Amino acid sequence: MKILLINGSPKGKRSNSLRLAKSFIEGVKAANENNSIPVEIDELELASLNVGPCRGCFACWNATPGKCVIKDDMQMIIEKELSADLIVWSFPLYYFNVPGLLKNLIDRQLPMSLPFMAERTDGYGNGSHQARYENRNTKHVLVSTCGFYTAQGNYDSVINMFNHFLGKGAFETIFSGQGELFKIKELSDRTDAYLNSVKKAGSEYAAGSISEATRQELNALLYEKEEFERMADASWGIDKTTGQKESEDLIFTKQMASLYNKASYDGKDKVLEMYYTDLGKTYQILLGKDGSKVYTDLSLTATTRIETTFDLWQKISRKEISGEEALGKQMYKVTGDFNLMMNWGKYFGGNHEQTQDPNTAAGTSTSANAIPSMATMLIPWISFWISVSINSKIGSLISLGICALIPSIMGKHRLIIWDKLSLIAVAVLSVVANITDNGKLISNAGYLVFGLFWLVSCMTKEPLSAAYVKYSYGGESALKNPLFMKPNYILSACWGILYLCTTVWTYFLGRAGLGILIPIINNLVPVFMGLFTAWFSKWYPAWKARGN
Ligand SMILES: Cc1cc2nc3c(=O)[nH]c(=O)nc-3n(C[C@H](O)[C@H](O)[C@H](O)COP(=O)(O)O)c2cc1C
Repeated sequence: MKILLINGSPKGKRSNSLRLAKSFIEGVKAANENNSIPVEIDELELASLNVGPCRGCFACWNATPGKCVIKDDMQMIIEKELSADLIVWSFPLYYFNVPGLLKNLIDRQLPMSLPFMAERTDGYGNGSHQARYENRNTKHVLVSTCGFYTAQGNYDSVINMFNHFLGKGAFETIFSGQGELFKIKELSDRTDAYLNSVKKAGSEYAAGSISEATRQELNALLYEKEEFERMADASWGIDKTTGQKESEDLIFTKQMASLYNKASYDGKDKVLEMYYTDLGKTYQILLGKDGSKVYTDLSLTATTRIETTFDLWQKISRKEISGEEALGKQMYKVTGDFNLMMNWGKYFGGNHEQTQDPNTAAGTSTSANAIPSMATMLIPWISFWISVSINSKIGSLISLGICALIPSIMGKHRLIIWDKLSLIAVAVLSVVANITDNGKLISNAGYLVFGLFWLVSCMTKEPLSAAYVKYSYGGESALKNPLFMKPNYILSACWGILYLCTTVWTYFLGRAGLGILIPIINNLVPVFMGLFTAWFSKWYPAWKARGN
C-alpha cells in the first residue's frame, strides 16, 4: 500500500496537524502490516517544496495537454498523487479554509483533469471535468487542527471544497480544535491520549471504517472550552488590559492557574502561593468556585505555599521529574495545608475526565482499570479468624468456601501476590483447623502468618500496603517517591509487629484462662492501628515537605 502524506502546514515539521497525521498513518500501517500488507510512506512537505501559484493560462489543457508550463515541483507531486493508494492531506485551518500553500497545490492539479465538461455522478454542485487519468480508487483522508476550542462548525468551507473536487463524502476527516496544545510538552498526558485515539482511528480505517466509539474519542475536547481559552489567552504573554509583555514566570504561573479544575471546589477558596526562590518572586493563585486568578500584589493569605526554583517547577510540569519524587527528595518545600499537594491531580487537571464536545453527541466511555483492593486480602483472613475460633469444623468449611468465592466476589479487582498468598494460607490453615479440630490454636497461627506477610514485604521493593495504595498516588511512579515509600515501610512494619505481638498475647491470654479478653483486644487493637495508619500516612509527608 502506498501512502502519500501531504503536509500543507507552512510550519513544516513543527506542524501540530502533522502529529495527528503521523499517528493516523501509524495506525494504518500497523493494521496493514498485521495482514502482511507492506506499506510505503512518502512524505511531502509543501513548505520546503517549490510550488508556485497557477497562472490560469490553461496551457495544461490545450498547448501542452496534461503538463503545466511552470517548471517547479508540481509535476513530481502529481506523479506521486497518481500512484498513491491513500493520500493523507495534513494542514492547519487558516481563515476557515486550507492555507495558501495547499490551495496553490490544489489549483495546480488542473493538468489532472481534461477540459471537457462532465456530469457529476454524486449530484453535488453544478459542474465537473472529466479526469485525465484512470481512477485508481485512491482514498483520501483530511487531517487538520485549528486554533479554536472545537473543530465543530469551523470546517464547512474545507469540507465543501473537498466535496467538490474529490466527490461528495469521498474522504474521511480527522479534525481537532485546540491544535496549538499538541506542541506543549506539559500537556502531553492529554494530547498523547488523543493521538492514541487518532492512531486507533487509523487502524480501524484501514480495516474498514472508524468505529463510533473512536469517533466519540476524536470528538472529545482536549480541555473544556473555558479552561482551554484561559490557557490560550495566557500563552501569548501579553497582559489583557495593559497590552504589556509579561515575564516568563508570570506566563507560566498563569498557565498553571488555568489548568485549575473548578469542579474540584469543595466549598472553600484556597490560595496557592508560589515562591520562586531563584527569582525571588512570589505569586498567589486564588482557587475559587468560578475558576482561578493570579495575584501579584500578595494581598491574599496563603493556604499552601510552595518554595521552589522556577527551573525545577518547569521541569516538573514538563514531567522531566515527578512532583512527588522531587518533594520526596526535598528539592522544594511546602508549608501550610498539605491537602492540596496530596490531591494535586484533582485540582490541576491530571484527573480530568475527557470532556465531550458539546457540539457533538455525548458519551465517551473510558475503561476502568482493574486496580487491586486490600479487601481481597483481608476478607479471607477476617472470616477465617471469626469462623474458625467459633467452631473449628463448620468455621473452617465456611472459611474455605469464602476463599473459593473471593476471585468472583472481587472479580472487578486484579489479584496480586498478597491476595493469592493469603488465599493459599487461609485455605491451608482452614484444612488444618478442620482436621485437628483446634480452631483457637490454628487461628492464632494465622496471626503469625499474617504478621510475617507484612514483615517479609518490608524486605522487598514494595511494602505490602504500598502494593494496594500506590494507585491513589500515581501508580508505579509512587514507588520512586520517598514521601510515599517511607511511611509505607514504617506502617507495614508496624502492622507486621502488631500481628506477631497478637500471636504472643493471644497464646498467653489463652493459657492464663483469660480467653474472654482475646476477641475484645484482637478487634480493638487493629482499629486503633487503622486510625494511626490514616493519621500517619497524611502527617508524615506533610512533615517532611515542610523541610524536616
Ligand atoms: C493565518 C492563520 C489563520 C488561522 N485561521 C484559523 C481559523 O480560521 N480558525 C481556527 O480555528 N484557527 C485558525 N488558525 C490557527 C491554526 O489553525 C492552528 O494554530 C493550527 O493548530 C496550526 O496547525 P499547524 O501547526 O499544523 O500549522 C489560524 C492560524 C493562522 C496562522
